[in-house]
Amino acid sequence: MTGTNGGLFAAYKDTWILEGVRTPFADYNGVLGLVSPIDLGIKVARAVFERSGIPPSDVGSVIAGSVAQASFDAFVLPRHIGLYSGVPIDRPALLVQRVCGTGVETISQAADAIALGKIELGLCVGAESMSRNPIAAYTHRGGFRMGQVEFKDFLWEALMDTAPGVTMGQTAEAVAKTYKITREDVDRFAELSFSRAVAAQKACFLSGEIVPLVSETFELAGYRTRGIRLGKGTEKLEMDTHIRPSPYEVLAKIPPAFGGVQTGGNSSAIVDGAAAALVSSGEYAKSRGIKPLARVAAVATVGVPPEIMSIAPAPAIRKLLDGAGMSLDAIDRIEINEAFGAQLISVERELKLDRAKLNVNGGAIAIGHPLAATGLRLAVTLARELRRAKLRYGVASACIGGGQGIAMLLENPN
Ligand SMILES: CC(C)(COP(=O)(O)OP(=O)(O)OC[C@H]1O[C@@H](n2cnc3c(N)ncnc32)[C@H](O)[C@@H]1OP(=O)(O)O)[C@@H](O)C(=O)NCCC(=O)NCCS
Repeated sequence: MTGTNGGLFAAYKDTWILEGVRTPFADYNGVLGLVSPIDLGIKVARAVFERSGIPPSDVGSVIAGSVAQASFDAFVLPRHIGLYSGVPIDRPALLVQRVCGTGVETISQAADAIALGKIELGLCVGAESMSRNPIAAYTHRGGFRMGQVEFKDFLWEALMDTAPGVTMGQTAEAVAKTYKITREDVDRFAELSFSRAVAAQKACFLSGEIVPLVSETFELAGYRTRGIRLGKGTEKLEMDTHIRPSPYEVLAKIPPAFGGVQTGGNSSAIVDGAAAALVSSGEYAKSRGIKPLARVAAVATVGVPPEIMSIAPAPAIRKLLDGAGMSLDAIDRIEINEAFGAQLISVERELKLDRAKLNVNGGAIAIGHPLAATGLRLAVTLARELRRAKLRYGVASACIGGGQGIAMLLENPN
């Protein structure tokens, strides 16, 4: 089931993540509920330049992603993130979309462009407003008959894969059956995710990658001013809002969301947020005297049947390690997106992962999963965790709606 001969693999000798940053992730319809993903993207792009001291004028290409069409100007999301963060007008911008793998894919695209000699430095951004998913209709341009209006909740509809006719949650329920994962297994894992995230928040590990948000405007000479307006009377947002102590006994009482083991407490939280990273060649890093965060060693992407997309990190990680000629024993830390608790546990069981190395600062069940930003968060958190723990190799991976998996190998340069 999880073996694959197909898929993509690339190894990189001299490609580096120089710096990374993200916004706090805020619960759906909360303090970021009205903010455009473009403005969240501009904020993290500006922040990553400020933190690294790298001038935006060095960027060869903007590579950005957002899965939902969450603003009327969504087509130009990468372009406006680049322009309003100071990237010169003559540098092109690419929109990347590999659903929940988008954030990792932006880094992969930058690494490819560097390997081909097209750029020396790429600005990678993933920005997602889950809240601003539209209430949409595709069929009414010619009008509609009385009583036959087809406006639908894009967020709800988009979490359904129409080919097999199952929701993302049902793909987790499918692997729960195959791997005999019980409700208690999933709630115990969710409790761990919350407690690790609470600990990482208290230890100020998470704040190290977060840029606080305030209401502010973004100016660009000759163009319209835009900006962020925080909601709910909030003056400053500094922390992820979904992380909270969540004992097993409380999680165990939440009703099933898809008729099985998954609930609103043990599935990824629906949140708004953005993340960014600067990715460069080794030569560029040296020329600027920058000590990079991590080396991007390899990326693998695979396909699996859509109805079991939940298991996809397993074959993706296998392909990654096969390609890199490494075994799992050599990997010190693993960050796998917790789309759903049973999904994560199925991958853990399939690969026989050591939980002590897995999502040690909590995962998306506690922190949240803003689709396009997630992969960049995983990569940046992993790179920072390898540094903190003085370890060498880490893998960041995610399952992807539609039946794909992506995995990236990072090496701590220290
Ligand atoms: C599973 C899912 C449908 C649940 O949605 P929901 O029913 O709106 O969930 P809620 O957040 O309202 O949580 C349900 C209840 O549990 C409670 N709850 C959730 N997490 C909790 C926690 N950590 N501690 C205590 N209570 C909690 C909520 O307060 C709510 O209680 P209420 O009904 O009394 O208000 C939704 O979270 C989801 O779809 N997640 C996955 C998103 C996704 O598919 N992403 C892409 C992956 S491929």
